Amino acid sequence: MQVGKVTAEALRAMKGRSKIAALTAYDYPLTRLLDEVGVPLILVGDSLGMVVLGYPDTTHVTLAEMEHHTRAAARARPRALLAADLPAHTYDTPEQALASARQLVAAGAEAVKAEGGAAIRPQVEAIVGAGIPFLGHIGMLPQHVREEGGYHIKGRREGEREALLADARALVEAGAFAVVLELVSPPVAAEITAAIPIPTIGIGSGPACDGQILVTNDLVGTFPWFTPRFVKPRLQAFALMRTAITEWMAEL
Ligand code: KIV
Repeated sequence: MQVGKVTAEALRAMKGRSKIAALTAYDYPLTRLLDEVGVPLILVGDSLGMVVLGYPDTTHVTLAEMEHHTRAAARARPRALLAADLPAHTYDTPEQALASARQLVAAGAEAVKAEGGAAIRPQVEAIVGAGIPFLGHIGMLPQHVREEGGYHIKGRREGEREALLADARALVEAGAFAVVLELVSPPVAAEITAAIPIPTIGIGSGPACDGQILVTNDLVGTFPWFTPRFVKPRLQAFALMRTAITEWMAEL
């Protein structure tokens, strides 16, 4: 259990000391539950698009939708650091990135995340320069899933490995406090983790990262129609709900 408010600086200082647990939440009750359990980093992820809003991928999520769900999560007033995703095409320029980040902060986010490394460095610098903590995200970038034709592991080819290291370093230089590594080949994730001074938070990137993040719905079985290969669900919550609802109907 955390004591006192978790800040971006405190998370950064966890590197090399304790593993960082991070999970997604998109509403008040789950944010409150994760916070009561002591999860130090809660992300209002744009995975919201698939596991709550029924879109086929994250590219359809709007800033207004992210603001709405960030407001709901923020009402839980978590001790955890509450980060929110900048959705696709809300950070195409540094000016747009800063304006969008400010909207998420006004909705209650304490940090923002966007996808990309060196390519979005000016955007990250604008956000960090305005005093908003920034969480990086490199590797497989779900907002680019349509161009990439699926969710593929990154870093297996030498060119990809070098680009990932350069992206991680660009984010450090731009002032990110941590970086999510999504579907990065585990040896490359380990190499990045050793090479940079900020925590890496892996998702499907092996055990060497400084922390791990999952979509909570995948972990507890509240989106049973698709579970990523790297997730071992700890609970089948929807199966339990299905039984409870069916039994209630039978007793009417
Ligand atoms: O949108 C999301 O939930 C994410 C995490 C799973 C890293 O980006």
